[in-house]
Amino acid sequence: MALADFLASLDTLAQQARDAFASAGAAEALEAVRIEFLGAKSGHLRLVQKGLGKVDKSDKPAAGKRFNEVKTLIESAFNDAQQRLAGGGPSETLPFDVTLPGQAVRVGHLHPITQTIREMKDIMGRLGFTAVEGPEIEDDYHNFEALNIPLSHPARDPLDNFYLKCAERAAGDSATHPLLLRSQTSTVQIRVMEKTPPPVRIISLGRVYRPDTADATHYPMFHQIEGLLIDRGVTMADLKSVLRLFCQSYFGGDDQVHVRFRPSFFPFTEPSVEVDMNWQGGWMEMGGAGMVDPNVLRAVGYDPEEVTGFAFGLGVERICMRQHNITDIRALYQNDVRFLSQF
Ligand code: PHE
Repeated sequence: MALADFLASLDTLAQQARDAFASAGAAEALEAVRIEFLGAKSGHLRLVQKGLGKVDKSDKPAAGKRFNEVKTLIESAFNDAQQRLAGGGPSETLPFDVTLPGQAVRVGHLHPITQTIREMKDIMGRLGFTAVEGPEIEDDYHNFEALNIPLSHPARDPLDNFYLKCAERAAGDSATHPLLLRSQTSTVQIRVMEKTPPPVRIISLGRVYRPDTADATHYPMFHQIEGLLIDRGVTMADLKSVLRLFCQSYFGGDDQVHVRFRPSFFPFTEPSVEVDMNWQGGWMEMGGAGMVDPNVLRAVGYDPEEVTGFAFGLGVERICMRQHNITDIRALYQNDVRFLSQF
C-alpha cells in the first residue's frame, strides 16, 4: 500500500471519530461510538492498524508515527465526550444557567489602619500637603535635640524610649548621637526643613515606638500623622482651621465631630495645644500641636523673623478607633481575621 493512501485513510478516520464522539448525546451512544472506533477486535482503528503491515518497509516509520498520533487524538476525543456527559465540561444539551445563585468569594482587604492612612493622605493632599517619609530608626539629634528637647529633659529617659545598642556604625555617622526607634514623627519635620527652604507644607505618616504597657488606649507601637506648614505670616488660626477641616472631612461633616484645643506644652512648639475629639460622651486626646518654636526654626537655618509655621502630631489609631467604634487598640494588632474582616 502506498504511504499517501495510508495517511489519507488515517485522516478520514480521525475526522469521522471526532464528529461521532462530539455528537454522542448519552452514555449508551458514547459507548457504541467507542466500540465502533476503538473496539479491540474490529474497531476502525484496529482495522486501519492492520493496513500498516502492508505499507512499504521504508515508509513504515512515517506511517507508524502518524498512526500513533491519530490514535491519541481519537482517545482524547473519547475522553472529552465522557467528561462532557458527566457534566465536567461545557455541554451542548445543557446550556449554562445564568440564574443559578453564585458562590461568594472572600477576597482580602486592607488593614483598617492602612485604610485610615490612605484616607488621611487623600484629605491632606486636597489641602495642599505632600506626604513624605522618614526613617523609623533615628538618631537622638532628630528625635530630641533639634526639636529643642535638651539632654536633661525627661522625654529622653531610657525607660521611655527604645534606644538601640549599636556595636558598629556606618562610616560618617556621628558617634555622639545614640540611635533609637523614633518616639514621634516630629523627627520628619527636622529632616524636611534641613533639606528644603521655606515654604514647606508636608505631612508624614508612620510608626512610632514607646515602651508603654499595652492597654485599651496604648500600644508600644502606633502610628502618627505629622503635619508641618511653614510660610510667611502663618498663625494659630491657620492651625485650628486646618485641623478642624481635616477632622470634619475625615468624619464626614461638622456635625460628626467636635474638636477641642487645650493649652499645653511641647519643647518644639510655642504656644502649644493638645487636641481632643468628642467620643462616647467624653473627650479623647488625639495628639499635640502648636506654632513651631523659633529655636527649632533656627536649628534648621530658617529665620524666625521671616517665616512662622505650625505643626501637629495626631494618633492614627485613635482616629481610626473613633471612626469604627473600636474600644480596644490591641484588637488592631491581634491579627484576628474575624475582627479585621469587619472593616
Ligand atoms: N510629637 C508630639 C507627640 O508625639 C506631638 C506634636 C507634634 C506636638 C507637633 C506639637 C507639634 O506627642
